[in-house]
Amino acid sequence: MAKRVRVGVIGLGFAGTEHLKGYRATAAAEAEVVALCDLQSDLLASKAQEFGIKKTFTNYHKMLQMDGLDAVDVCIPNDLHAPATLDSLRAGKHVICEKPPARSAKEARQMADMARKMGKTLMYAVVLRFTSAAQYLKRCINDGMLGDIYWGRTVYHRRRGIPIGAKAWFVDKKRAGGGSLIDIGVHALDLAWWLMGAPKPKSVCGASYTKFAHLVPPSVHYNVEDSAFAMVRFVNDATLILECSWSLNQAGGSIQQLAGTKGGAEMHPLKIFTETDGVLADLMPQPAGNDWYGDEVRHFAVSIQNRRQPLATAEQGVQLMQMLDAVYESQRTGREVRIR
Ligand SMILES: NC(=O)c1ccc[n+]([C@@H]2O[C@H](COP(=O)([O-])OP(=O)(O)OC[C@H]3O[C@@H](n4cnc5c(N)ncnc54)[C@H](O)[C@@H]3O)[C@@H](O)[C@H]2O)c1
Repeated sequence: MAKRVRVGVIGLGFAGTEHLKGYRATAAAEAEVVALCDLQSDLLASKAQEFGIKKTFTNYHKMLQMDGLDAVDVCIPNDLHAPATLDSLRAGKHVICEKPPARSAKEARQMADMARKMGKTLMYAVVLRFTSAAQYLKRCINDGMLGDIYWGRTVYHRRRGIPIGAKAWFVDKKRAGGGSLIDIGVHALDLAWWLMGAPKPKSVCGASYTKFAHLVPPSVHYNVEDSAFAMVRFVNDATLILECSWSLNQAGGSIQQLAGTKGGAEMHPLKIFTETDGVLADLMPQPAGNDWYGDEVRHFAVSIQNRRQPLATAEQGVQLMQMLDAVYESQRTGREVRIR
């Protein structure tokens, strides 16, 4: 049996805690969390106790020096994704890094190059790829049920839901890299793009809006978009429409729609639009629920054990960030932006 991957988790907020639950519930045979790191010592102590982990650090550089650490799980604010990932890779560790991959494609490029140079796994934690519905639909697509997918629409709207309070870093462009687009738009974009086969992006036309600053207390520095809209063209001529918001006068919710030459599909809830014997038919598959975060971190550990590329690769992280960068550039310039 392969050796369990020994993991240190940096950042014990929402994401770090979900990952810890996943390691405990679903990935226990493949991975073992051996160290925790957070700047907040009270939080660190309480999570160490809750999850029974002995080694704790308030400085991740110290954690990287400990013996017997194989991998690092990066769950800290977006501005620290690149530095913590680069430091961990340089120290010879495999890395799983939370979404968004980074604040820009430039940072994601450095991360991918470092992973290649060090010969280590870098996986991005794009958890929506790991829901049982997404996994099932991906298998149907791989089996050819939709034919060639040439159109997609992906939406993630909140009617009201700007992250402030203890999470105020989310609304500071310098720290987060952007607003609703880089926070939740990235989930919607990544899921539909992956289902479409992750074609190489060619150009993006986008717009973004900041219309809800009045909902944010004056003490919070709010300089990001609360909604963003875009159309992405790919080199295979497919197009994808993206809509996302933290605050928009629409019903909140998420949907992914795909259309191909043989069939179509929709998620939330999952539907497959097909045709049998010349008759249009809708399927409503109901895969049993799963532990998304657990399956995600287990996949990370198994990829390391088997020396296989993970499902969400470092190079995909670069392309994802190129698309997000291009939405912001298109808003700034008022033009369609080419991606090279
Ligand atoms: N996949 C998902 O569903 C999901 C959900 C939420 C957040 N995220 C992502 O996870 C990351 C963290 O988000 P969150 O909601 O958990 O944030 P959070 O603010 O709740 O938690 C971040 C934690 O990191 C700690 N931290 C900050 N700087 C640190 C440092 N230098 N060293 C060690 N610890 C440090 C903070 O003390 C805090 O406990 C973000 O990139 C976010 O986009 C992903």
